[in-house]
Amino acid sequence: MKAVVVYESLWGNTAAIARAIAEGIGPGARALSTAEATAEAIAAVDLIVAGAPVIAFNLPTDRMRESVRSDPKAPPADLSAPSMRSWLDTLPAGHGRSAAFETRIWWSPGGSTGAITKGLERAGYPEAAKERKFVVRGKYGPLRDGEIERARAWGAELARAMG
Ligand SMILES: Cc1cc2nc3c(=O)[nH]c(=O)nc-3n(C[C@H](O)[C@H](O)[C@H](O)COP(=O)(O)O)c2cc1C
Repeated sequence: MKAVVVYESLWGNTAAIARAIAEGIGPGARALSTAEATAEAIAAVDLIVAGAPVIAFNLPTDRMRESVRSDPKAPPADLSAPSMRSWLDTLPAGHGRSAAFETRIWWSPGGSTGAITKGLERAGYPEAAKERKFVVRGKYGPLRDGEIERARAWGAELARAMG
C-alpha cells in the first residue's frame, strides 16, 4: 500500500503526529508537508491521511495565519508551506481512501477534521476510518504525554483497515 500523511503545522505538533502516523502505517508511508505533497508526490496513492491544527475553532484560515504571523507574542510559526485549506482546494482527483486528524487543546469547541474530510471526499478520497484528535498541553504545544504513541497505533490501525 502506498500512503502519504500530509500536514499543515505552524509549531511542529501536527508534523510530529504526522510522522508517528506514517511510522505506524509502515514502510510504504511518508509524512509530507503541504509543500512537499505535490501532485506528483501523491499520484496513485491508496491512502491520504491529512491533518492540521485547530486555530480559532477551525481549520486555519489565511486570516488566522496572517494574524499569527503578526503577533509579537507568538513563538515563530512556520508559514512557509501552503495552508491545508489551499492544498485541499488544488488536490487533483484520485482514487484512494482517506482519513483526517487534528491537533488541538482538549476542551475547545469546533475543529479542523470536518473541513479536511470534506475536501478529501470532494477530490474522490472517501473516508477509510473515523477522524482522530490529538491533544496539546498549551496553546503552542507540547503534545500531551502518550499522543505520539496513540498516533503510531492509529497508523497501524489504518494500515490494517486498508487490508
Ligand atoms: C492563535 C491560536 C489559536 C488556537 N485556537 C485553538 C482552538 O480554537 N481550538 C483548539 O483546540 N486549539 C487551538 N489552538 C491550539 C493549537 O491547535 C495547537 O497548539 C496545535 O497543536 C498547533 O499545531 P502545530 O504546532 O502543528 O501548528 C490555538 C493555538 C493558537 C496559537
